[in-house]
Amino acid sequence: MKKAERVINFLKECLQNRPEVADWKLIFDTQSRVLIDFLKIQSSQLVILDYGCGKLRVLHALVEFLKEINWKYTGFDPFFDDSQLDDLAKLQLPKQYCYEILQREALLKRSGTYNIVILQNVLHEVGIFETAQVLQDCRVLLDDSGVLLLLETPLLPKCEPNFVPIYDWEIPMIFSGHKQLSTKTPKGLPILFHMIAKAEIPNYREIFANVTNLL
Ligand SMILES: C[S@@+](CC[C@H](N)C(=O)[O-])C[C@H]1O[C@@H](n2cnc3c(N)ncnc32)[C@H](O)[C@@H]1O
Repeated sequence: MKKAERVINFLKECLQNRPEVADWKLIFDTQSRVLIDFLKIQSSQLVILDYGCGKLRVLHALVEFLKEINWKYTGFDPFFDDSQLDDLAKLQLPKQYCYEILQREALLKRSGTYNIVILQNVLHEVGIFETAQVLQDCRVLLDDSGVLLLLETPLLPKCEPNFVPIYDWEIPMIFSGHKQLSTKTPKGLPILFHMIAKAEIPNYREIFANVTNLL
């Protein structure tokens, strides 16, 4: 009965276009693990943008699991809920941790800044035109040797009827090159994980963005 109630509430949220966002505490899942394992073996100082950061669980995972590495974190989410910062305050982070949450306008002044842009569970929530805009932002914000990390859970256990999932086989249709790092959870659910260099992200010219904004 409880389960049915949860599913109904979830469907209601989806239909109101206000789907549940993974909790700040969710850092022991396979997706977080593969992301952290990848970041751990990078040689350069990490300048990370978490695009569509939700409830900041990437930041939480960095704080808990990437203590020995120097990183700077920027979070951006057009629907960011400031009350999320309360959870962060409870962690009482030592001063060496460098993080900020930016609005889009401030973020766009940072072109060529990030060597890692994380796009985790975002693309399945945005429409076709918005996808072009999101990818264009990622391309512009990356530095020349930077990479986009695209993570998704193509088979969401609860399903999201308002959204379109994105699959491994669609990645080569969008990007000119990519490195596939996809895996599975212990229960066999697929975790889509691709590393895409800046030059491999299509350049969506501003004129198209302007036209689509009129639609
Ligand atoms: C399923 S949540 C994922 C949150 C977080 N990345 C995670 O994995 O826990 C999708 C997030 O995408 C954000 N989002 C929706 N449209 C967006 C857009 N146009 N640009 C950036 N983020 C967007 C939502 O606000 C939401 O926080």
